[in-house]
Amino acid sequence: MANLRVNFAGVEFKNPLVLASATPGWDGERLKQAGLAGFGAVVPKTIGPVQDWAAHPCNGRMALVRVGNRPIGMVNMELFTTKSREAWIKEDLTKAKEGGATMFVSVLAMPEPEETAKLIEQMQDTGMVDLFELNVSCPMPAGTVGMHIGKSAELTYQHVKAAKSVAKLPLSVKLTPVVADMVPIAQAAEEAGADAISISNSVRSFAGVNIDTGRPILRAYGGYSGPAIRPIIMRHLSEVARAVKIPLSAIGGVSSWRDVIEYMMLGATTVQMATTVMWNGYNKVQEILKGLENYLDEKGYKSFDEIIGCALPYITTTEALAQEPALQAHIDEDKCTNCGICHTKCFYDAIHWDEDRTWTKPENCDGCGLCAAWCPQDAITLK
Ligand SMILES: Cc1cc2nc3c(=O)[nH]c(=O)nc-3n(C[C@H](O)[C@H](O)[C@H](O)COP(=O)(O)O)c2cc1C
Repeated sequence: MANLRVNFAGVEFKNPLVLASATPGWDGERLKQAGLAGFGAVVPKTIGPVQDWAAHPCNGRMALVRVGNRPIGMVNMELFTTKSREAWIKEDLTKAKEGGATMFVSVLAMPEPEETAKLIEQMQDTGMVDLFELNVSCPMPAGTVGMHIGKSAELTYQHVKAAKSVAKLPLSVKLTPVVADMVPIAQAAEEAGADAISISNSVRSFAGVNIDTGRPILRAYGGYSGPAIRPIIMRHLSEVARAVKIPLSAIGGVSSWRDVIEYMMLGATTVQMATTVMWNGYNKVQEILKGLENYLDEKGYKSFDEIIGCALPYITTTEALAQEPALQAHIDEDKCTNCGICHTKCFYDAIHWDEDRTWTKPENCDGCGLCAAWCPQDAITLK
């Protein structure tokens, strides 16, 4: 049977699945439940500021984004933990540890780097932390914390440097996807001594408008999470994976074991999830672990080490691909059911359809592949 263990920044995890910092890590009791359900590691809600400048809306702060009736994402306006530091130190971290998962404790990069270092020391002194996640990426706060630090390579460097000057434990820096290029920020974190990078926090966004009332669904901007953001995270992850040497933790839209494998093939050593737990409960982790185990066994992989980053060498540029020979769509007549879907997707007049058959005009095909992507029978290939 395959070995699910991973080593992340020098810390052994019993499996690569991590409960991401969010509502399901609200307190010690919930974190304990997540550990007992099977997560390799758990991240509490971000511990940071005193409450007076970090209150979050308690009059509705979450909205689902749907396509038809199907939720594809969620927008939330939840800031940090509203439990006091004292409660975390005295009770909640101890309770959380009873779940048996690695304690991956999220701390906020505070307005000043010296305050960030002080907070790290305070949490470290509890003896309950296995590694830290430094949050420089919350998409909501106005002013001086969250993504206001993480969008700047210089500020990120200063906070990581300060945190690492006191941290005796490994530290991963959680970055924001709301930047044109995450690479220089990840490199600044690595240069400042970060042991890992977590990619990433949610995407600053707007939940929409109620068209019956003409009023916004949430009246401020929030963080977008869930399945819809996965391609955005895969882009940042794969770019950073090719630019830094330290290990990566992927976060964003995981809802199946397949999503976990994809992130690992793009360079992640651990994979975190929040929204899927909020939608399906802690036991979702068991279904995903079973899927991972079956996949490794069926493929004959002994451990995740054999797949981490395996897809990266094959990523190139659109310009380079444009120099490669053109391909055309070909239909496998044995598989085609003549449903006509491909015909409606072709804007090059390269796929013809009548009641009896579907056929291609290769000389018109521009090799885009949309017909193949839509074909429900997998009957079209580009060659
Ligand atoms: C309701 C909610 C609260 C969150 N709170 C935090 C937080 O306190 N600290 C943090 O670093 N990330 C927080 N996040 C971001 C998640 O950890 C994660 O990065 C993001 O949701 C993407 O993962 P997902 O698609 O699996 O939810 C929160 C996300 C949600 C949905």
